[in-house]
Amino acid sequence: MRGLSAFLLLLCLQRVKSDESAAARRPNIIIIMADDMGFDDVSFRGGREFLTPNIDALAYHGRLLDRLYAPAMCTPSRGALLSGRYPIHTGTQHFVISNEEPWALTLNATLMPEIFKEAGYSTNLVGKWHLGFSRPEYTPTRRGFDYHFGYWGAYIDYFQRRSKMPVANYSLGYDFRRNMELECRDRGVYVTDLLTAEAERLIKDHADKEQPLFLMLSHLAAHTANEDDPLQAPEEEIQKFSYIKDPNRRKYAAMISKLDQSVGRIITALSSTDQLENSIVIFYSDNGAPSVGMFSNTGSNFPLRGQKNTPWEGGVRVAGAIWSSGLQARGSIFRQPLYVADWLPTLSRAADIELDSSLKLDGIDLWPELSGSADAPHVPREILHILDDVWRLSALQMGQWKYVNGTTASGRYDSVLTYRELDDLDPRDSRYAVTVRNSATSRALSRYDLRRLTQQRISLTRRLAAVRCGDLQRSCNPLLEECLYDILSDPCEQNNLVYSERHSDVLTALRRRVQELRASASRPGNRASMPEADPTLHTCAWESFEVLKPRIVPLECDYVGVPC
Ligand SMILES: *[C@@H]1O[C@H](CO)[C@@H](O)[C@H](O)[C@H]1NC(C)=O
Ligand SMILES: *[C@@H]1O[C@H](CO)[C@@H](O)[C@H](O)[C@H]1NC(C)=O
Ligand SMILES: *[C@@H]1O[C@H](CO)[C@@H](O)[C@H](O)[C@H]1NC(C)=O
Repeated sequence: MRGLSAFLLLLCLQRVKSDESAAARRPNIIIIMADDMGFDDVSFRGGREFLTPNIDALAYHGRLLDRLYAPAMCTPSRGALLSGRYPIHTGTQHFVISNEEPWALTLNATLMPEIFKEAGYSTNLVGKWHLGFSRPEYTPTRRGFDYHFGYWGAYIDYFQRRSKMPVANYSLGYDFRRNMELECRDRGVYVTDLLTAEAERLIKDHADKEQPLFLMLSHLAAHTANEDDPLQAPEEEIQKFSYIKDPNRRKYAAMISKLDQSVGRIITALSSTDQLENSIVIFYSDNGAPSVGMFSNTGSNFPLRGQKNTPWEGGVRVAGAIWSSGLQARGSIFRQPLYVADWLPTLSRAADIELDSSLKLDGIDLWPELSGSADAPHVPREILHILDDVWRLSALQMGQWKYVNGTTASGRYDSVLTYRELDDLDPRDSRYAVTVRNSATSRALSRYDLRRLTQQRISLTRRLAAVRCGDLQRSCNPLLEECLYDILSDPCEQNNLVYSERHSDVLTALRRRVQELRASASRPGNRASMPEADPTLHTCAWESFEVLKPRIVPLECDYVGVPC
């Protein structure tokens, strides 16, 4: 009897122990997201105007995500990441949430931080949310994040952390919090550095904990700040790029440089606390850069067509890279199409979390391909880039085919909007490989390399990652006709195949699938602006205005110091 119960106890203990070690073995997940950074604003595809040695090193030591796709704007892109679903299935398919609008990513969706929290992770968001805040239940700490340090709305000033919406008559409002409380400390500190320091703190505090870490560092960079002073960086950082003639582009280079340093600091923090080996680190931009027009930051999506908020590759194909010691084919380019909604199932698999089929995900688990050998067979898949019946616009990719019907802004942003600058070259470019190898990221990651990161390997990867356009063969006016491209051989969307007999079956299949997806779409969640949102009614801050009673006496908010 005693023997049996001792045996059962032992069995029991062993189980607990193996469960614990399974939990301990779950990898830390670190997602570093850029905002509105252009496809060509990293140097790993051959851009030489300003270098991004840390981001490049992440790609060279890990895997460069060659065909990473995201919805073309902030709210749908973040919604797809966190829900694993298409924006049409979370009500975020039309435009974005402006701060004074009372809506959010549907509460129906179960979000990635909820899933990871349930699996024992500490879940943290540092930086931007932009998925709704007009009610407290829309905000990050009510949607799965244990902790949030950052802002709720679309963007803020890089130093003063206030924002003014360009589309409505609303006052400047303060938008920065620690969980639900306004956070006033360190006002005036450049926000890219501030968010990075907070992420470093979380990583360090986490070092001796059993619990795995889920950390999303959601940067403001390189989104514009308020209209009156859109591009902001510390003066000494701007000085480093004095060789760039265009003063706006010079500031933008400094903003990206700070972002690149952030990647180096995060990798260093993981490394110096011995957590790197058990971490998956992803860097990517939420959508293409707005090169011109609203919120334009001078970012470049060269050589792709279009930009943020367009159906073209310049809007939806984004810069990205992943590193984990668990990736077998580190150092090789990942060529399969990957969609941001894939991260939820993919990272769940990496963390050995079983997902409930009731989640009805649109993303697919690509962890076996991502972590497996370099020649893993391609998984056939579709990506619905956009389906917005308000703007009568759809773009769907199935396999190598991409269908576009309609466009935004009457087609003003449909062309290639930027070209590579060949005169203002980064002086470090002549020693590019050395610059990359000397980066904080490369120093930490090279320890895990089986082959040394030689100049040859760097040049080869950079050459292989270059996107080459063919010649313009048959253009398409998306306002008048449908467009069909073989996106694999025509990444720059220059040969409309819609009239090609040979492709009529493909066309029919794509049209039919758009209709099917349309039938499955929920209504867009958009709701009209509410005057109650005005920060003047809430001590000059952006607040959960649907529930907070406005103050009777409006305040004058357009000066520094309020409410902090
Ligand atoms: C959320 O769920 C409700 C009730 O089931 C449904 O009517 C609505 O369409 C859903 N919203 C979204 C955006 O999926
Ligand atoms: C816009 O704001 C100004 C100044 O607060 C106010 O006088 C004006 O009535 C507002 N206009 C609208 C359309 O709300
Ligand atoms: C393409 O756009 C036209 C015009 O808006 C529309 O009538 C048609 O249904 C669209 N086709 C698909 C497959 O969405």
